[in-house]
Amino acid sequence: MSIFRQTTKIALWATLVFVHTACFNPTNNVIKPAIIPVPLSQNIQEGTFLINNETQLAYDSDFKSVALFLKGYIENGSKIRLKASEGTGKIVFIKDTTIQNTEGYQLKVSQQGISITASSPKGAFYAIQSLRQLLPVNFENNTYTGNEIGIQCIEIEDEPQFKYRGMHLDVGRHFFSVDFIKKYIDLMSMLKMNTFHWHLTEDQGWRIEIKKYPKLNTVAAYRNETLIGHYRDQPHQFDKKKYGGYYTQEQVKDIVKYATERQITVIPEIEMPGHSQAAISAYPSLGCTGKQIDVATKWGVFEDIYCAKESTFQFLEDVIDEVITLFPGKYIHIGGDEAPKKRWENCKHCQQLIKKEGLKDAHGLQSYFIARMEKYINSKGKQIIGWDEILEGGLAPNATVMSWRGTSGAVEAAKQHHDVILTPGSHCYFDHYQSTNTDEPLAIGGFLPLEKVYSFNPIPEELTTEEANYVLGAQGNVWTEYITTAEKVEYMAYPRAIALSEVVWSAPKNKNYIDFKNRLINYQKRLDVRNVKYANHLYEVAGKLDATDGNLSYTLEASSKGKTIRYTTDGTTPTLQSNIYTKPIQILKNTTIKAASFNDSSQLGNVFSQTLNFHKAVGKTISLNVPPHISYNAGGKEALINSISGSDTRLGDKEWLGFVGNDIEITIDLGKETAINSLSTRFFNVKGSWVHAPKRLEITLDNQKEPMYMNINVSPKKIINISHLFKKSKARIIKIKIVRAGIIPPDFAGAGNEAWTFIDEIVIN
Ligand code: ACM
Ligand code: ZN
Repeated sequence: MSIFRQTTKIALWATLVFVHTACFNPTNNVIKPAIIPVPLSQNIQEGTFLINNETQLAYDSDFKSVALFLKGYIENGSKIRLKASEGTGKIVFIKDTTIQNTEGYQLKVSQQGISITASSPKGAFYAIQSLRQLLPVNFENNTYTGNEIGIQCIEIEDEPQFKYRGMHLDVGRHFFSVDFIKKYIDLMSMLKMNTFHWHLTEDQGWRIEIKKYPKLNTVAAYRNETLIGHYRDQPHQFDKKKYGGYYTQEQVKDIVKYATERQITVIPEIEMPGHSQAAISAYPSLGCTGKQIDVATKWGVFEDIYCAKESTFQFLEDVIDEVITLFPGKYIHIGGDEAPKKRWENCKHCQQLIKKEGLKDAHGLQSYFIARMEKYINSKGKQIIGWDEILEGGLAPNATVMSWRGTSGAVEAAKQHHDVILTPGSHCYFDHYQSTNTDEPLAIGGFLPLEKVYSFNPIPEELTTEEANYVLGAQGNVWTEYITTAEKVEYMAYPRAIALSEVVWSAPKNKNYIDFKNRLINYQKRLDVRNVKYANHLYEVAGKLDATDGNLSYTLEASSKGKTIRYTTDGTTPTLQSNIYTKPIQILKNTTIKAASFNDSSQLGNVFSQTLNFHKAVGKTISLNVPPHISYNAGGKEALINSISGSDTRLGDKEWLGFVGNDIEITIDLGKETAINSLSTRFFNVKGSWVHAPKRLEITLDNQKEPMYMNINVSPKKIINISHLFKKSKARIIKIKIVRAGIIPPDFAGAGNEAWTFIDEIVIN
């Protein structure tokens, strides 16, 4: 339904002053509309409207602060100074209560003026964000030097699809400055996002001043050192540097005010009962054991959680009392995720409470804990949000569920008529890798490219239309275990947050990924002048190997259509003079292909590089006695003889195959008797991830009765290279039995479980 009523349109336009407009000499400055998130409807028209020092800005008194926001934006960005007052003008802010969606707006730019019509300041603010994208990017950093600016005539009617449009930031694992938080909020507001989920407490640091409990800020806000590299790299190493910080209540108020001016609600997250090790380190009596523990120095899930005793509830209520005074929004996020029950199971207080309350077990106690805190928070006029674990043991009566472990939590909660917010790891975890480029900065794992974010539909298909009403929206999560700097936050969040903005704001009928990418190219120029260190994989080249009947060819593809790919096969970096790619490249020997997208004058995006090791098994026939585990079989069995080695760091890479629970027998058929000299391969040995190199290989050539045994020594190395030399052998069939490591021994992660076996390319020469 249109948010715009024809009758009021005519009436409201009457308040514009139609005076002769100076004829703007159209210059290159007039921006072609490419608004993100794409509006519900837009109609580009002939001509431009000119803004200069003569332009009068007029506003309905309810819209004064947003009108002044626009005035401030133009004046901060240029030398143009606007006159502003209530009454009449050429840029007018009009209140129209018939616009039903309070975040909806109409923006009309004609040669006579600009009108912004909305029923609330929120809508008017979003109109400004659209208008902002019709101004040259150098308004963003005060480098627009002209005395006037022409704006493309256009009519836009717009409103969001979802009322919750969020971005999250974990400041517990790493701490970010007030200035950076403001920049993060400002970038969100440009995308019409309306909620900042501020993850303020963690095992590794407590980040908000609580006056009643000063040790939260002197003790819990600091850790002694921090894990270096990835958690799975073992043995663990630490930087031996004290790390931490917290936001004072004054700083929190300042940030909340800044966000409010940008129509953003800040939701504080105070985690309970888990992820509370930092608080327990400051006040050990909050835990079940009462023992002194340290603020965590590495990542993961920790067993020390809040003890469910009266004094802990008193502490949490006191904390909530202070938090509530700082955050005017209606929600407090209470976490609820990843709370191991081991301490509760061995605690006399917790066991007594389970008995007294007639609870089933420790899971029932988690539910009791959350429901009790909910009751307290509700009594203060606020609502709780919790991660989807709060469904376990029964949902607190008024809770909103944030579904992160897929979408099943959202489905379950919506069917119980609870509000839900979608943040599934599959589409909303911006701490995952966004490219398979080997030079991507370290990430926690996973793979979430831009297109996948863009494809997200926040309404799970299991829901009826009625149940779908409980879906408030979606949110991008930025967990910061491996995100140590503000620049890297930007790299991980952008451009994925931009794709998400269209997921939560734009109508599905208007979404189109190719069109989005074209608009994104423009939007990135805005980010460039704002000095945002976003990731740019728009011009990336991707490659695919094709091996049929032993003939190898390699196909290159640019992620942006219409760009020229240039490539080399001699290991040199491609230039404007390199060959243009037109058809698959035949591979006849060891080859390193390097390629990049180019326009007529320069390279766009990163260089893609792929080394192909043209050995004797490439493209031949391979069989396995057991399939790889479904999660680690992306490349299929042919990945073991396709000439491409896996990444040195990424278990999820499709060139590595992962197995669990079986010895693996691999048979390679070379098609005819072939002289062979060597066999080499590699195994992951990442014990922190339960991956152990095998014990032994048994290699049998077709004309041999006894296998050749190769024992593999226990090693701390992350990758174990294996190489076997044959003495003047010929063979057609090569059998390799991999005798797995078996049960993980004590003192290693996952002790008592089956170790995984991960194998890479099997190179036969
Ligand atoms: C979460 O990622 N533990 C909510
Ligand atoms: Zn306890």
